[in-house]
Amino acid sequence: MEFVASWIKPKLEMGDICPIFRRQILIDKRVTKASLYITALGIYEAKLNGERISDYVLAPGWTEYQKRLQYQKYDITDMVMPENELTITVGKGWFRSPMPGWLESDDKKRRQEQPAGIIAEIHLEYEDGINEIIKTDECWEVAASAFQFSEIYDGESYDAGYQIKKWNPAHCFEWSKDILIPQEGEVIRQIGRVFAKEILITPANELVVDFGQEITGYVEFHVDAQAGDKIVIDHGEVLDKYGNFYNANYRSAKARIHYICRQGDQTWHPHHTFFGFRYIRLTEYPTEVKPEHFTAIVVCSELKKTGTIECGNNQINLLISNIDWAQKGNFLDVPTDCPQRDERLGWTGDAQVFIKAASYNYDVECFFTKWLRDLAAAQRANGAVGQVIPDYLPEEKESAAWGDAAVICPWQIYQTYGNKRILEEQFPSMKKWVDFITNTTTKDFLWIGGEHFGDWLGLDAPSGSYRGSSREDFIASAFYAYSTSILIKAGKIVGENVDGYIKLYENIVDTFRKTFPVYHTQTEHILAAWFGLAEDVQSTVDDLAVMINNDGCQIKTGFVGTPYILHVLSKYGYSRLAYTLLLRKEYPSWLYSVEKGATTIWEHWDGIMENGDFWSTDMNSFNHYAYGAAVDWLYEQAAGITHDEENPGFSRVRIEPKTDERMGWLGVSINTRNGIVSSKWNYLNHGIRYDIKTEVPAVIAINNQETEVGPGEYIFWSSKLLMKFETLWQQKAEAF
Ligand code: BGC
Repeated sequence: MEFVASWIKPKLEMGDICPIFRRQILIDKRVTKASLYITALGIYEAKLNGERISDYVLAPGWTEYQKRLQYQKYDITDMVMPENELTITVGKGWFRSPMPGWLESDDKKRRQEQPAGIIAEIHLEYEDGINEIIKTDECWEVAASAFQFSEIYDGESYDAGYQIKKWNPAHCFEWSKDILIPQEGEVIRQIGRVFAKEILITPANELVVDFGQEITGYVEFHVDAQAGDKIVIDHGEVLDKYGNFYNANYRSAKARIHYICRQGDQTWHPHHTFFGFRYIRLTEYPTEVKPEHFTAIVVCSELKKTGTIECGNNQINLLISNIDWAQKGNFLDVPTDCPQRDERLGWTGDAQVFIKAASYNYDVECFFTKWLRDLAAAQRANGAVGQVIPDYLPEEKESAAWGDAAVICPWQIYQTYGNKRILEEQFPSMKKWVDFITNTTTKDFLWIGGEHFGDWLGLDAPSGSYRGSSREDFIASAFYAYSTSILIKAGKIVGENVDGYIKLYENIVDTFRKTFPVYHTQTEHILAAWFGLAEDVQSTVDDLAVMINNDGCQIKTGFVGTPYILHVLSKYGYSRLAYTLLLRKEYPSWLYSVEKGATTIWEHWDGIMENGDFWSTDMNSFNHYAYGAAVDWLYEQAAGITHDEENPGFSRVRIEPKTDERMGWLGVSINTRNGIVSSKWNYLNHGIRYDIKTEVPAVIAINNQETEVGPGEYIFWSSKLLMKFETLWQQKAEAF
């Protein structure tokens, strides 16, 4: 839609106060259809006659604002009356908050200086066939609202007793309308409520509410107060080892609510911001405190759940739940690293690490389609991809395995959902990234030089470093090969000539093999094997297995090696070792954080160390999904549900479970674009029973026997007595 309205803003900049715009609308005819089209430079909330127009929260969402700004369309036909007042409040949101918090940059200054503008049109269709458009212009009025402050990191301040004294005419200003696009992503909503579990008085004598679960969203409180009473609420993810409230890991993000009460009963939650928290500290609170007065409201892009996993090991079930919460906590319009500290950015590396798991857990096709368009829009003239998308770090350099999100993410979305539109749309961006590497490297057919994050947070990092010991040139060159191989496959699918890239790929592999004949770390072995760069993949994985055993059956990998380690082991005959790593409870392991009471995935394997100390205060998120990538191994290897690259969208599957008696049983189901596929196995006295249900054609492979089946339900026994000789195959008509 082309907006005919003007951008409007307050005539005088209001500083921290959120402006409220209003327009009176008189209607003297019957309306057959009324629609509101609206967006803002900030986060807006629109009300008609005092009632919220939509349950969309944090609208208009977060995009690469300089190029793409979503507007929303709401049907308000049932809300209009003869006399109407439309009001719109605007918080700073992602548009104007001082993000990222730790950095001073020209771009950050530029964003903060932007106006608190809105643009809106109300389209009225009357019964008599006449249409009318009421649009933002100087007839609109603006005032200071009761929201005295609102931004992403620092929180929100609200004065419930505040009365607007003076309205002023709004001021029209020039701002691009070419950037306006209709809503593309999933709508952000309140998707759930978590009730307070316990009120604690900590050793420091502070009043703390524990919700028992880390969430992303905000707290709603109910209070019966005197006018002017003050409430101050702080947010935290964990208690320290003494049981005290702790949020030093939020760094400069104040993450604080200030609320001034009006007289009487009232219920309130923030409206233009969000927090990542499990605990709140009632830093100031006027009345007696009861758990039923506090609810944590979960805010997330509305994604359909598509994958479920359950098993006989309770801690693994908790881990799966933690991964699920980490996804919900970081899929708020953009795939973010974390939801709490002065960061909360769309880190490309984290997104590519987790995308497969994410795409099995939930339907994220639309979510990533939008984000990848932002990635392409933000891509630099030379093809480089920013470290974060939207690109709030335009002055920073690109990194291997982060920028490769440009190639890996569209490919994964295509693989999971089978819709080649994502490749058609993204192919130019994918190509630009590979070309960028070709043009930037200091040595042909490898990526040598540049600044990289390496195997970020790998446990084999030299003391004091965040980067694991794997060689950065090795990782960068391995991803150069991997992205080129994907580009070739994608190009063939969308009908592009990729001959030059085929030659390039051969040269990269050849040069890689000559340059890196030996592998020094777990991650180097993993990449060489998983990306097919090793000449002898089996012996590379054999060496990896020896290395892991020599390391005391411990994972040493960081962001780059972790997503593949279990896959590589399982695929080349070391499933038992993969299970051993997954089931390990001692540090370092996936279950270590579960043992320590985590309710989401931690950024560090040892966010809370064995002695109860924190890893650090400067970079220690307790809600970081990257290591949760392990869950895709449960879908693909433990439950054994995979599809060939030639059958994207699970149009035909292979089901080859890899069982382990230490798990007891496992049941997994994926609601694919082509139907539901589920695979369950259970260790029983007389053997292993497999229950497989598939709505798509499948090859079932159990005990080295393969059978082709059509859609249906199947039961197999791998009996203890007969296992050596045969597997009993049986098809069952009724549901299991
Ligand atoms: C983020 C990470 C990110 C990394 C890159 C961190 O601050 O939280 O998840 O990938 O920086 O260096």
